[in-house]
Amino acid sequence: AQEPHPVPDPSLRHPSAAASAPVRILLLASGGGSNAERIIAHFAARPDVGRVVGLLTNNPTAGALAHAARAGIRTHVFDRAAWRDGSVQSLIEREFRPDLIVLAGFLWLVPAGLVMAYAGRILNIHPSLLPKFGGRGMHGHHVHEAVLAARETESGMTIHLVNEHYDDGATLFQARCPVRPADTPTTLAARVLTLEHRYLPLVAEAVARGEAPEAFVCRAVGHAVPPDEIVVLPSQSTPPLPGL
Ligand code: GRF
Repeated sequence: AQEPHPVPDPSLRHPSAAASAPVRILLLASGGGSNAERIIAHFAARPDVGRVVGLLTNNPTAGALAHAARAGIRTHVFDRAAWRDGSVQSLIEREFRPDLIVLAGFLWLVPAGLVMAYAGRILNIHPSLLPKFGGRGMHGHHVHEAVLAARETESGMTIHLVNEHYDDGATLFQARCPVRPADTPTTLAARVLTLEHRYLPLVAEAVARGEAPEAFVCRAVGHAVPPDEIVVLPSQSTPPLPGL
């Protein structure tokens, strides 16, 4: 059953932020960072709406680091001990002070302390139509292999709020794509990644603006996409998060 939409958290904006200040966005990535790259570019063009204040990663060779460095965005590499013992959370709160955290291809489970501190303000993107093909171990090509093995006729991507379980928080937005008979995990991954690149920046912008993601995205893309590409979720009457 669809979880009730998260209750807006009145304390969303960082107490010190002015009412009209751009939303401070922190990115976490583990891999190539193509999603991070598109979010950075999206908000570079909308500095009044949001500002990417940092990119953190658990992977010292992550391509995401190069994307952030090229954009002059502060980066930090952490290890599992620092992630688990709360020192990364302290760094986040002390040095980055984000209003919104976006996991853009980040593979580790978020510790409960961080989930609690940023309840309703952490987004994740997953390359399947959750709740199908989610959970521990379901990342990257494993997802697409499982979709093909299950002979699904469609797949897609899900953007959801993060809780202390893998891929389990309230769904904010979904987009679908066909699975074709000749698909391999690589061809399917590429088709899903195209959806991620198209929609993750727009959903992050909707959340930053305190707008319901589906309505905002539909207005933004208009008729530029196939009519059934955007999955209509149970009504998003209230924005998932008020203006951050
Ligand atoms: C994407 O497949 C995304 O669904 C998953 O990790 C991958 C991120 O790719 N969360 P990139 O690092 O953004 O290029």
